[in-house]
Amino acid sequence: MAREWWKESVVYQIYPRSFRDSNGDGIGDINGIIEKLDYLKYLGIDVIWLSPVYDSPNDDNGYDISNYQAIMDEFGTMEEWETLLAEMHKRDLKLIMDLVVNHTSDEHEWFVEASKSKENKCRNYYFFRPGKNNLEPNNWESVFGGSAWRYQAETDEYFLHLFSKKQPDLNWENPKLRKEIYKMMSWWLDKGIDGFRMDVINFISKDSRLPDGESKKGSSYASGAKYFMNGPKIHDYLQEMHQEVLKNYDIMTVGEMPGATPEEGVLYTDQERKELDMVFHFEHMDIDAGEDGKWDLKDFSLIELKEILNKWQVALEEKGWNSLYWNNHDQPRVVSRFGDDGEYREKSAKMLATTLHFMKGTPYIYQGEEIGMTNVAFDSIKDYRDIETLNMYNEKKADGWSEDKLMQAIHTKSRDNARTPMQWNESSQAGFTTGDPWISVNSNYKKINAEAAIEDENSIFHYYRKLITLRKTHDIVVDGKFNMLEKDNDALFVYTRELNNQQMLVISNFTSSKQHYSLPAKSFEIVNSELLISNTELDVNNEKEIVLSPYETRVYFKK
Ligand code: NOJ
Repeated sequence: MAREWWKESVVYQIYPRSFRDSNGDGIGDINGIIEKLDYLKYLGIDVIWLSPVYDSPNDDNGYDISNYQAIMDEFGTMEEWETLLAEMHKRDLKLIMDLVVNHTSDEHEWFVEASKSKENKCRNYYFFRPGKNNLEPNNWESVFGGSAWRYQAETDEYFLHLFSKKQPDLNWENPKLRKEIYKMMSWWLDKGIDGFRMDVINFISKDSRLPDGESKKGSSYASGAKYFMNGPKIHDYLQEMHQEVLKNYDIMTVGEMPGATPEEGVLYTDQERKELDMVFHFEHMDIDAGEDGKWDLKDFSLIELKEILNKWQVALEEKGWNSLYWNNHDQPRVVSRFGDDGEYREKSAKMLATTLHFMKGTPYIYQGEEIGMTNVAFDSIKDYRDIETLNMYNEKKADGWSEDKLMQAIHTKSRDNARTPMQWNESSQAGFTTGDPWISVNSNYKKINAEAAIEDENSIFHYYRKLITLRKTHDIVVDGKFNMLEKDNDALFVYTRELNNQQMLVISNFTSSKQHYSLPAKSFEIVNSELLISNTELDVNNEKEIVLSPYETRVYFKK
C-alpha cells in the first residue's frame, strides 16, 4: 500500500489574527496569508493548519464560533478564502481547517434558539440543567477558571461550558446535532479542503449523569475531566463521523486530545478502527507544571521529557500515528521553554527542531518557530489579550498572589507568548501591520525577523528548510523504527531510527555546558556514516567519544 501523504508531510500552523495584516486594521487576515504563501512554499512545508477563521465574537479568538459556514469579517470574505485555497493548491500546498465542535459561541443561532425556552427544538443541542440546592448542577471547573456552569434566569436553568461562558458545550448525545455537524463538515470538504484539525475532540462525549468531580482542598470547584475526557461514547462518535463523512475524502485528520494516553492514542488512530489519522497529545507540555497546574511553575526534567516522548513513540510504532510538536497557539515559545532564548537562541532552536523532526510522526511548525521567535514579557497585564491569562490574573490576584508572582507566571506560560505578531522584517510593527496591532509586537523584532533569517544562510529558517528536505529524501525519517538511548542521561537526548539496513543516530545536548557522549559500542559506527545535519561546524568525524558543545545536535546516517 502506498504510504499516506500526511505521513510524509510537514504541517505549518497559522494563527491568522497574528500572521499578516493586509489592510492596516491591526488584525491579520486572509489576504495577508495569501501574500505569504511563497514564503511558506520556500520553507518547504506541505500542509497549512489554519486556526479558526469563522464568524465569531472573539471571546476566545475564534474558538467561539457563531457561524460555521461564514468567514469572520475581520479576516475577509468567503471569496477571499476561496482564493486562498486555490492559491495554495496551485502551489501544491494542502489546507486543513480547524473544526471546533465541542462547543459553539453563545451567539450561534442554535444557542440563541436553545436559550429561548425549555421546549425549543435546539434546547437539547446543549447541556441545560436545573441547579442543585440553589447552586450549579455540579462542581466542575471551567478550563478558563470559575464554574463550568452559567445560569440563565429566563428559563431558570444552567448551561455547561467547559471553556469560557461564551462557549456552551454541544450535546453529542443528540443525533440531530451530530447530523448537522456532519453536514457542515461535508460542506467544507466539498469545497476542496484537505482535512481537519479537531479542537478538543476527545471532550465531546460526556458521562450524561454529569457527576461531581473530586474537589481539591480549599477550592469550591473540581475537575470533571474523568467524566468528559475520552468519555464513554467517544469512539462511537468518531467511527460514526468516519462513516458519515471522513471516509468519502482523501484527507488528513488530527485530533487535539488533552489527557489522552498512548493506549488511547492507538485506539484513536489505528487505521483499521476508522477514526482519525493522528493524535495531538499534551503529555510533554505538562512537564513544567506543578501540582496546582500550569501556572504553578516548575523546572522541566529532560529525563521526564524523554520518558513521555519515548512512551508515545513506542506505543504508536505499529498502529497509529503521532503528531510531533513543540509549539502551538496555546503554548509558550519552545526556545524560551526548553532551549535558551539568550546567548544560544539560534543554536538551541536548531537543536530542538532536529530532535523533534527526526522522531516518528508528522512534524508541526508553529508560525515564527522557523525563525526562533521567543516568549514576550510585557510589563503590564494591560498588554495581555488572552482570556485564560486575564481570568487567571484576576482570580489569583484575589487569592493573594503578588504582582511579581503573577507576572512571572504569565511571562513563562501565557498563551499570548505564541500570539504576538509574526515578525516579518525590521520595519515598524515588524512588518505585520501598517496600523496598530491588536496585541503588541515583541520588542526583539529588529533582530529576529523573517527577512533577516532569509538573508543569513546559517539561520534557523534555512536549517528548517534543510530538515524538511531530509524528510523528503530519506525514507528512514518517515518509516524508521524509533529507539531511545541514554534514557537516564539528564543532559542528552539520543535516539536511533532503523529501516532495513539503514540507521540514523540523533544526538542532542539540552544544556549550556559541554557534554561527553560515548557511542553505543556495537550499534553504531560513526566512521562509516555520513553526518546528515548539525548545528555546529565539525572537523573530525570519526571519534569514539564525542564532545558536544552547548546545545549541539548531530544526526548521523549509515546505509
Ligand atoms: C483548544 C484550543 O487550542 C484553544 O485555543 C481553545 O481555547 C480551546 N480549545 C477551546 O476551544
